[in-house]
Amino acid sequence: MIYFDNSATTKIEPTVLETYLKVSEQFYGNPSSLHLLGDTPAKLLAQSRAQIANEIGVQPNEIFFTSGGTEGDNWAIKGTAFEKMRYGKHIITSTVEHPAVYESMKQLESFGWDVTFLPADDKGLISPKDLKEAIREDTVLVSIIAVNNEVGTVQPIREIGEVLRDYPSIHFHVDAVQALGMVDLDLGPASRVDMAVFSGHKFKAPRGIGFIYIKDGRQIAPLLTGGGQERDMRSGTENLPAIASMSRAVRLTLDNEQEKRTHLRNMQTKIRTYLETKEKVKIFTPEMHAPHILCFGIEGIRGEVTVHAFEEYNIFISTTSACSSRAMDVDSSTLSAMGVPKHIAETANRVSLAAENTEDEVDQFIKAFDEIYEKFQVING
Ligand SMILES: Cc1ncc(COP(=O)(O)O)c(C=O)c1O
Repeated sequence: MIYFDNSATTKIEPTVLETYLKVSEQFYGNPSSLHLLGDTPAKLLAQSRAQIANEIGVQPNEIFFTSGGTEGDNWAIKGTAFEKMRYGKHIITSTVEHPAVYESMKQLESFGWDVTFLPADDKGLISPKDLKEAIREDTVLVSIIAVNNEVGTVQPIREIGEVLRDYPSIHFHVDAVQALGMVDLDLGPASRVDMAVFSGHKFKAPRGIGFIYIKDGRQIAPLLTGGGQERDMRSGTENLPAIASMSRAVRLTLDNEQEKRTHLRNMQTKIRTYLETKEKVKIFTPEMHAPHILCFGIEGIRGEVTVHAFEEYNIFISTTSACSSRAMDVDSSTLSAMGVPKHIAETANRVSLAAENTEDEVDQFIKAFDEIYEKFQVING
């Protein structure tokens, strides 16, 4: 079995699963309980927070645990909107965001907020100049994805941050769900990024856990109110087994980060170089962007047909974005924002790699592709 759908979700790492099981079995007390069984969980919670903060170069009090990327994006966006509605109701985002951002913006629009969706070029890139021009007196938030989940475009987060230095009151949120370990993330006191969202299951931690970085001093309203966990910012009993195992997964992901990126890039380049030899293949991923994502289409063949053809070889790829591919229509996709016509966007497939994938798997993928491509040529003439 060859799993090339790692941007949809990853297989949990065995030692991460061990941590999950151990914490579930041995430290089941509630971290908020005053008795002895709450003590170790409370310490473990603090340790996990400190470890994650340390790994990404921020302070422990700037990390809040969530249920994953969707919650993090909803919180950063709506939490800022609610907190700052007295000052303004204008938000800037892009046309190449994940639905967790896009739909949050749409909902805020329906409640009276005004949202500017910045256009993207044919590589899926937005322009810091366009962003500057879109800023208004009443702009309270800028939300931009770091690494696009459909095609792997890496946005110029640092340059956008430079533009925003002239507007210190605007919150800058970055959806970094596809970014951990894959690109350099510049967080911490010197960075202009105020919030960044991460999701455990994208880096070999369990499902249903994630974290958000919120820069010290930046205020956002909580969305989940209740028992006051996470310093009153995100109520709900902490999912300690998932949190502790995610902190391990963050460390493992960032261990030998550069070597892993080189390995991913080599595999991606091998597939790209091969696909470039095929007359009827169009590659949508721009060169030298994220090392783990490659989006392409075979002329005249719908993406789902190709997915199922690979399935017969026990190779698992996706159409563009697995979390939305069953539900979302092509018109609101990244490819559409890049100006790809609908009938071509519908051919799109995404290969998304993880560090444990091998060159041998890439060779097997190429061999299967050859056969599938030939078969399609025979059928389509
Ligand atoms: C860029 C991006 N943002 C947000 C999400 C949502 O994350 P989650 O699945 O943890 O809710 C995803 C999931 O694919 C994503 O790729």
